[in-house]
Amino acid sequence: MAFLEAQKLVKEYNRRGKTFRAVDDIDFTIEPGDFVMIEGESGSGKTTFLNLLTGLTDPTSGAVIIDGRSLKETGDKEISKIRNQKIKYIPQGESLLSALTVRENILFPFTIGGLERPSEERLLEVSDKLGITDLLDEYPSDLSGGEMRRATIARAVINKPSLIIADEPTGSLDSANTFKVMEIFRDIASEGTAVIVVTHQKETLGYATRVLEMDQGSLKEVV
Ligand SMILES: Nc1ncnc2c1ncn2[C@@H]1O[C@H](COP(=O)(O)OP(=O)(O)O)[C@@H](O)[C@H]1O
Ligand SMILES: [Mg+2]
Repeated sequence: MAFLEAQKLVKEYNRRGKTFRAVDDIDFTIEPGDFVMIEGESGSGKTTFLNLLTGLTDPTSGAVIIDGRSLKETGDKEISKIRNQKIKYIPQGESLLSALTVRENILFPFTIGGLERPSEERLLEVSDKLGITDLLDEYPSDLSGGEMRRATIARAVINKPSLIIADEPTGSLDSANTFKVMEIFRDIASEGTAVIVVTHQKETLGYATRVLEMDQGSLKEVV
């Protein structure tokens, strides 16, 4: 069974009195260990699609099935539980909290919502892998863009989610950091986590096991 499945997913918005489909009838599945990259022009519907997959946005029609359960059929509480435990979303832009250290940022999701706090061992394992162990007590304002991004990834992977979704995670990074971040996602996928990354940098597509293109709300398999 696919971990996540989108069935005939449609999201309509209104603009100047006209309805248009930001996401237009998308069928999509992802299996554990898949590393899916989605490319496409700005405004083609990539972020809207990711928001539908995580349940942040309700579809106009169609369904998202996670672990065999429709996001629509489960109560709100169930959705947030699935979201918190099994799916980690790395939104576009910076999302670290500036008043917290890197360590506090990584552990912050576990101080709310009653999730089990990862052990110190696990924290060190993840931060070693991402090369941020020496930065755990620093504040985000003292980090480079690449270091901040790696800290954000640490926060996402620490509880071994089933699915990681990242919206243009290398947007503001130089190419050395871009490739470092892509290698991290590839490693995460090789350990069985499904990964979806939206990118506009064609040179990164080689890291994916599947490449899809978003074009005016339609998703097509490229590789
Ligand atoms: N909340 C919204 N209300 C109305 N239109 C929206 C909303 N969110 C996105 N759109 C429109 O939907 C289209 C797809 O946007 P988006 O998913 O952000 O594209 P991408 O991430 O590929 O740049 C764009 O035309 C955008 O302006
Ligand atoms: Mg976007």
